[in-house]
Amino acid sequence: MCDINWKEIEEKLKNSLNEERYRHTLGVSYTAAAISMAHGYDVQKARLAGLLHDCAKYVAKEYRIPMCEEYGIGVSECEEENTGLLHSKLGVIIAERNYGISDPEILGAIRWHTTGKPEMSILEQIIYIADYIEPNRDTDIEIPTEIRGYAFTDLDRCCALIMKRIVSYLKNFSRKMDEMTVKACEFYCLKTGV
Ligand SMILES: [Fe+2]
Ligand SMILES: [Fe+2]
Repeated sequence: MCDINWKEIEEKLKNSLNEERYRHTLGVSYTAAAISMAHGYDVQKARLAGLLHDCAKYVAKEYRIPMCEEYGIGVSECEEENTGLLHSKLGVIIAERNYGISDPEILGAIRWHTTGKPEMSILEQIIYIADYIEPNRDTDIEIPTEIRGYAFTDLDRCCALIMKRIVSYLKNFSRKMDEMTVKACEFYCLKTGV
């Protein structure tokens, strides 16, 4: 991780995201780094995955599905209706192509940061959690102190609590759910008894 040109990556991201999303990106990056410290994980790798997790957020609407077709990425019914969800799948392509990332752990963390999945790797969990609890989030959702605390002591329990909140939020607003969101929630709730 020593040969990473942080300045160049940050500049590129600044140019492809809006100000609010860039602030969120930095929040996820530093939160992921802090969570990593608590779990003995590679801090710089988590920082990099955090920086890049939303790199495809602003791929223009009309390019999202054609880009998936070009790279042989399957599009679910739910993603077809809400193409914004595709930014995690497209993020893998952009991280590889525009930022030269080949580390499968980082690519996996980008891929699964929106829905989560059963049996996530440590970095996948760290980015999933950091995306939800980073401090700038407080402007749109209230994050219980308990959830933030578990990020530093129990990744599985923290994931379960976040997933449960997301699933009930989506249910309350009758929003369509990606089947992986449900599977992930069931897996982590069963694993931790949440
Ligand atoms: Fe995202
Ligand atoms: Fe995000």
